[in-house]
Amino acid sequence: MSDGRVEMTPALAAYLDALAAPSPLVRRVTGENRGDPGAVMMTHPELGRLLAVLVTASGGRRVLEIGTYLGISATWMAEALRDGGRLDTLEADPHRATRAERWFAAAGLADRVHVMRGPAGATLPGLPDGAYDLCYIDADKPAYPAYLEHAVRLVRAGGFIVADNVLYDGEVVAERPGEHAEALRAFTRAAIDHPRLSTAVLAVGDGVTVSVVRG
Ligand SMILES: C[S@@+](CC[C@H](N)C(=O)[O-])C[C@H]1O[C@@H](n2cnc3c(N)ncnc32)[C@H](O)[C@@H]1O
Repeated sequence: MSDGRVEMTPALAAYLDALAAPSPLVRRVTGENRGDPGAVMMTHPELGRLLAVLVTASGGRRVLEIGTYLGISATWMAEALRDGGRLDTLEADPHRATRAERWFAAAGLADRVHVMRGPAGATLPGLPDGAYDLCYIDADKPAYPAYLEHAVRLVRAGGFIVADNVLYDGEVVAERPGEHAEALRAFTRAAIDHPRLSTAVLAVGDGVTVSVVRG
């Protein structure tokens, strides 16, 4: 330990992974897609559990996700919804959207998960103000700052905005960060400074911001 922050050893990481304890459905969707070329994009189990906790804390009536992929984080969140709750999840890639829809049907989640196809930048302006308890941002990194502004409008006061990959494998502190890392730095700064948000940055998975929307 130095300056109060624990060093992440392999043993400690394994301990945390065991405590994340994904549900049987999350284990199934993760296992079935482990060989997919995009599998590295799957939300880390530590963050999946945090999302489930926050969906529960938010009341879990209506949740928005930007970036479905094959439905791993959506499964974590859908299982945490209250009875009658709904998750809207946005996916630009039609092939991934179809695979995710097939998974939600096979998993018995189709009644509570709605895949919204097309680029999020085209879908988000049509969604109603304050309709969501929580928005999870996990899509194209250059658009994160724009997604933050949409999320502030779409999430009710007291609800949560969560964003993945804000440490971008450490590249956010590189001497010459690339376009994605620059966008993530700008996003994180904006989330910290936003007058309507109270934001914490956590070293969970690849780094996550958790913001509460103020009234
Ligand atoms: C990191 S993955 C999401 C992983 C997912 N949250 C999970 O844990 O299973 C990002 C996804 O966002 C999608 N995406 C990229 N740009 C997008 C856009 N402009 N609008 C909607 N989806 C987009 C990609 O096709 C990809 O499936």
